[in-house]
Amino acid sequence: MSLSTINKITVLGSGVMGHGIAQVSAMAGYSVVLRDIEQSFLDKAMEKIKWSLSKLVEKQKLSQADADKIFARITPIVDLKQALRGADLLIEAVPEEMSLKKKVYTEVDSFAEVKTLYASNTSTLPITEMAALTSRPDRFIGLHFFNPPQLMPLVEVIPGGKTNNSMVDMAMGFVQKVGKQPVLCKKDVAGFIVNRVFIPLVHEAVFCQERDNVPMTTIDSAVKFRMSFPMGIFELADYTGLDVVHKATVEMHSRDSKVIRPHPKIKQLFDEKSLGQKTGKGFYEYKGDKYERINLTEQEASRYNPIAVLAVAANNAAWLISNGVCSKQDLEKALKLGMGLKKELFATVQDFGASNVVKTLRDLAARHGPFYEPDQYLVNYRG
Ligand SMILES: NC(=O)c1ccc[n+]([C@@H]2O[C@H](COP(=O)([O-])OP(=O)(O)OC[C@H]3O[C@@H](n4cnc5c(N)ncnc54)[C@H](O)[C@@H]3O)[C@@H](O)[C@H]2O)c1
Repeated sequence: MSLSTINKITVLGSGVMGHGIAQVSAMAGYSVVLRDIEQSFLDKAMEKIKWSLSKLVEKQKLSQADADKIFARITPIVDLKQALRGADLLIEAVPEEMSLKKKVYTEVDSFAEVKTLYASNTSTLPITEMAALTSRPDRFIGLHFFNPPQLMPLVEVIPGGKTNNSMVDMAMGFVQKVGKQPVLCKKDVAGFIVNRVFIPLVHEAVFCQERDNVPMTTIDSAVKFRMSFPMGIFELADYTGLDVVHKATVEMHSRDSKVIRPHPKIKQLFDEKSLGQKTGKGFYEYKGDKYERINLTEQEASRYNPIAVLAVAANNAAWLISNGVCSKQDLEKALKLGMGLKKELFATVQDFGASNVVKTLRDLAARHGPFYEPDQYLVNYRG
């Protein structure tokens, strides 16, 4: 298989991610089938794609004629057998539940042609396990787009245990062809790269707030202005959605209990349906369901040292490097493009002093257990 053999793409699931993946694929010239279980879901998805293309026309990034051509390349289809006919690549973006994915792959396998390659947009489920449900584990890969796919430049590419190398090459090429930047996550680990760093941080920020008894805006200001994050951690969790954070937590923790120290507050917010911006309340309260920034200031940042938050981020990042999941360069690229970090994470570690970061982890480990034990890469880190 090679990238040149990919012409027709079928995207399964037309929700938050699927419609965006369909759009960027059509913009790259592919012929796309978008499949969902109800026509009304597809109608909504096609409306969103039309709206998104019209915005690009408005901003003069596309001509109306090109927008029309792109839109015409996407065919919405409910019937699965018809949707899979002739597909060179399937990209699955159905809800994040292993039982559903199992059902979907069994169904897909009964209709897909032998040539069809499989990719899943899962954020947290094991690629190897999903691949094993299919007739083609050697031609199955994780393609983790970020939300919204139309805007976010990063795609993590995750081979499963049996994925062959030409499939990896095809996936890396495909991501570039759709105008995104791929980062190879060499091992199928819980959380892949970005979520492995991001999700545990949300929990740590809550622990920090409890331990240090400071307002959320103080921690968030420090994270933003002293750790070069695009926004605070509580703010980022609200923006992402506490449902996404909670489900990723459960999945990642069940795969590897060392990756996260769960704080019950996340589940509590999820159970209360305080899901962040989209419900008007998460860690913070919002006036409506429109995107709203929290007022964070440098002055407030100066009142708090976020070294524990930094230490947890650096420790998970170090684990990824020392376990051969990604290179340091790819780690920094993923955090920049996927989380919006304005400065390299390990440059911030140097600013705080690597030995101070390690000492913070050792102190926390002595009080709260082995989750905080510093990774050897960090212990040896000299910049
Ligand atoms: N939302 C995010 O921020 C985000 C980011 C990255 C990756 N992901 C991953 O992308 C995947 C999809 O997430 P989402 O947020 O787009 O979910 P979503 O709930 O918005 O959309 C899923 C869609 O799949 C449809 N569906 C259900 N069963 C189907 C089937 N058998 N065939 C075709 N369609 C079916 C649903 O009707 C729904 O429209 C998940 O694996 C998720 O982890 C989500």
